[in-house]
Amino acid sequence: MPDVRGATLADISAIQDIDRSLDQHLSDETVLQHAIESGRVAVALAGDELSGYLRWEWLWDHIPLCLFVRVRPSHQRTGVGRALYAYVEADLAGRGCEFWLSSSEETNDRSLRFHRALGFRLIGALSDLGQDAREIFMRKDLAP
Ligand SMILES: CC(C)(COP(=O)(O)OP(=O)(O)OC[C@H]1O[C@@H](n2cnc3c(N)ncnc32)[C@H](O)[C@@H]1OP(=O)(O)O)[C@@H](O)C(=O)NCCC(=O)NCCS
Repeated sequence: MPDVRGATLADISAIQDIDRSLDQHLSDETVLQHAIESGRVAVALAGDELSGYLRWEWLWDHIPLCLFVRVRPSHQRTGVGRALYAYVEADLAGRGCEFWLSSSEETNDRSLRFHRALGFRLIGALSDLGQDAREIFMRKDLAP
């Protein structure tokens, strides 16, 4: 399984490089800095570079929600996403969280398959978010 650790401020440019590799909007540096300092960003390592990252946030101050999980195209389907989730889930279970949430656009079939494979179940969908597809929300129970 790929090595995963908590992100440091020195990872910010590499995280933005992963955004570029996926043609996704660039993570805001100030937002990233705050998230890293709050212990809400994990990165996966591939030698000297980062192969992926995960950033999460608290919903209503007590429910963890995965905001972004991004894996470089060259490293996809090699267990990076699974390793990032395992790392964060162990961290959250250690903080006493009983479950957490994640979400995906309804049309992101790869992401939906990924979440299903990791044990998430669908709990609802939001529309009218200014994006083409509905946002599907999923929940996974965490082992105590
Ligand atoms: C979705 C994403 C994070 C998955 O990460 P990954 O590192 O490629 O996934 P893993 O290798 O850990 O896969 C774990 C399991 O998920 C499922 N899975 C992952 N990618 C899949 C695909 N393309 N098709 C079908 N199942 C898939 C499989 O069951 C896989 O297990 P297996 O390889 O043993 O069969 C990655 O494709 C990605 O970064 N996509 C672009 C960004 C994105 O859409 N993020 C999600 C919304 S925020």
